[in-house]
Amino acid sequence: MKNIVLLGFMGTGKSIIGRRLAVELGCRFADTDQMIEERAHKSIEKIFAEDGESRFRQLESETVRDVSGWSGYVISTGGGVPLHEENIEALSGNGILVSLKARPEVILRRVRKRIGRRPLLRGPHPLSRITHLLAERKPFYDQAAISIDTSDVDIQESVRRIKVQVLERMGKDS
Ligand code: S3P
Repeated sequence: MKNIVLLGFMGTGKSIIGRRLAVELGCRFADTDQMIEERAHKSIEKIFAEDGESRFRQLESETVRDVSGWSGYVISTGGGVPLHEENIEALSGNGILVSLKARPEVILRRVRKRIGRRPLLRGPHPLSRITHLLAERKPFYDQAAISIDTSDVDIQESVRRIKVQVLERMGKDS
């Protein structure tokens, strides 16, 4: 089975929805941010602070390359993964790409608790930062064949909607 790859901005629900989706489909689950932290033996916050964003992106691309070689996984990716063409190429080789979306205010509410993992959102005006980054990144997230807005639906309903579309696409592909 192809991988199901969740793309999207921070706070759109990739990790929590991905975990639930994997359970429902009887698949294994991988989270690229978590893998990076395990490999680097430090948090994302520390990688950004001590080694810089470009080192983080390098680790991210290595991790993406590795998971792209697996099959039958639900893979949740960090919000910056689609910005690099090589990442999208690798992930789409053996995966169905699903983009999760949410409105900026909803994103801010969701990420506030764990801002440490999101050094890019630090600063005095997180809402305008989110709005700006979302606009800049839209074309990259729009590369996914399937897109789901999670702003006004709960996790279970998001999972259900993804499942319907993914299974339909898998049917077409086979
Ligand atoms: C980032 C998103 C974060 C994490 C890092 C950079 C981004 O992941 O990879 O802080 O560039 O959007 P989540 O999308 O899982 O929060």
